[in-house]
Amino acid sequence: MRSRIVAIILACAALTVTIAARADGDIAKGKVASQTCLGCHGIPDYTSVYPTYRVPKLAGQSAAYVLHALQEYKSGARSYPSMHAQASSLTEQQMEDIAAYFQSLGTPDKSK
Ligand code: HEC
Repeated sequence: MRSRIVAIILACAALTVTIAARADGDIAKGKVASQTCLGCHGIPDYTSVYPTYRVPKLAGQSAAYVLHALQEYKSGARSYPSMHAQASSLTEQQMEDIAAYFQSLGTPDKSK
C-alpha cells in the first residue's frame, strides 16, 4: 500500500516537471542566446551613439510580448531589417528561452 502511494506521488512530481519545462523558456539558455542582442538592446539610455537611433528596452518585458515580437520579425509581419535578420537566425525554442530571460530581469524602469 505504502509503495503504491509513493509511486503515485512520484508520477505526479514527474508530470509537474514535464509541464513546467514545456510552458517556459529556459532562462539560462536564453541568457547565452541573447548576448548578441545586448550589443543593441543593452546600451546606456537605449540610444546608439552613431548612427543615433533608439532601441526598445527589453529587460522586464513580458515573455509573451518578446516572443510574439520575435515571431513577427521572423515572419515579416513586423518589418525592420536588422531585427528580421536577428529573429531569422533563431529557433522557436531559442526565442522562448530569450523571452524568458528578458522577463526574468525584472520590471521595466518606469523613469525611462
Ligand atoms: C543591430 C541592432 C540590434 C540587434 C543586434 C538586436 N536588435 Fe532587437 N531591435 C533593434 C531595433 C532598432 C528595434 C526597434 C525596431 C522597430 O522599430 O521595429 C528592435 C526591436 C526589438 C524587439 C521589439 C521590442 C518592442 O518593444 O517592440 C524585440 C522583442 C527585440 N528587438 C529583440 C531582440 C533580440 C531577442 C535580439 C537578439 C537575438 C535582438 N533584438 C537583437 C535593434 C537590434
